[in-house]
Amino acid sequence: MEERLKELKEEVLAKIQEASNIKALNDVRVAYLGRKGPITDLLKGMGKLPPEERPKMGALVNVIRESVTEVLEARMAKLEEEAINAQLEKESIDVTLPGRPIKTGNHHPLTRVVEEIEDFFLSMGYEIAEGPEVEKDYYNFEALNLPKGHPARDMQDSFYISEEILLRTHTSPVQARTMEEKKGEPIKVICPGKVYRRDSDDATHSHQFTQIEGLVVGENIRMSDLKGTLSLFAKEMFGNDREIRLRPSFFPFTEPSVEMDISCFKCGGDGCNVCKKTGWIEILGAGMVHPNVLEMAGYDSSVMTGFAFGMGPERIAMLKYGVEDIRHFYTNDVRFISQFHRTEA
Ligand code: PHE
Repeated sequence: MEERLKELKEEVLAKIQEASNIKALNDVRVAYLGRKGPITDLLKGMGKLPPEERPKMGALVNVIRESVTEVLEARMAKLEEEAINAQLEKESIDVTLPGRPIKTGNHHPLTRVVEEIEDFFLSMGYEIAEGPEVEKDYYNFEALNLPKGHPARDMQDSFYISEEILLRTHTSPVQARTMEEKKGEPIKVICPGKVYRRDSDDATHSHQFTQIEGLVVGENIRMSDLKGTLSLFAKEMFGNDREIRLRPSFFPFTEPSVEMDISCFKCGGDGCNVCKKTGWIEILGAGMVHPNVLEMAGYDSSVMTGFAFGMGPERIAMLKYGVEDIRHFYTNDVRFISQFHRTEA
């Protein structure tokens, strides 16, 4: 029996060392020290021994049981500690790691340019006027000195919805509406908004684009007022040393009509790829409001005069930011849009 006990002890100790986790070790404890285990069996079998051997054997079993229990508890404590350490390791947070950057949105480049232009004119005392994109032929053309059949209508190929209704081809109808509303009073407005023309889309054309037009009406409004306003605007948008030049042009609603160029902001006038070697960049159309337009809206053109101008923010944004294709503004690829962050301005 003593032999059997020693064997058993060796066996348990080996199993204890083998157990690599808490569950396995618990199984060893139940198997060897539990009520159905071999040690209990041995104790139960003591009754069969001669009485003089019983105390000696009893003591031996107890010693073995205690020493095995001790080893097992030590092993258990070690495994528990290892389990906690592994858990801590798994859940540890490295506070020195850099944080994940939070992505913030930004204004669309076109919105930014429109707002920049609006801010400039608001600071000059202009108001913002808006009107419908689905417009009457009357306001889009007729009230602007473009009667039905006028050849200049071809300058703005249109999307008609019915005989009398179309998608506005410019924001000038907002000016015609404003004049009608103001009933002979002085006016100082800018009209930003979307416009539509029948065009095949390519790098510089889009069937839908944006315009900002301006209208000033009052007594003694002169060409020099227009020139001064546009000159200040050019400096504000493209830098203080910009010069402007006005070239004669034609619009049915203005007389005289001009086109305004600015001195090239890249080469300063020497000639480069931006200004196509001319030193000048065309920015907008403008002129003195045609007397017919004033009269049609109820203004006495012998007392009141006015100037008007119109520009495309897409073109301005393309020049300012070196954008090569107008379609980038509408396809909304975030790789394009996210380049225009407020802070860069
Ligand atoms: N409405 C003109 C256009 O769209 C621009 C313009 C406005 C020209 C005002 C002169 C005066 O082409």
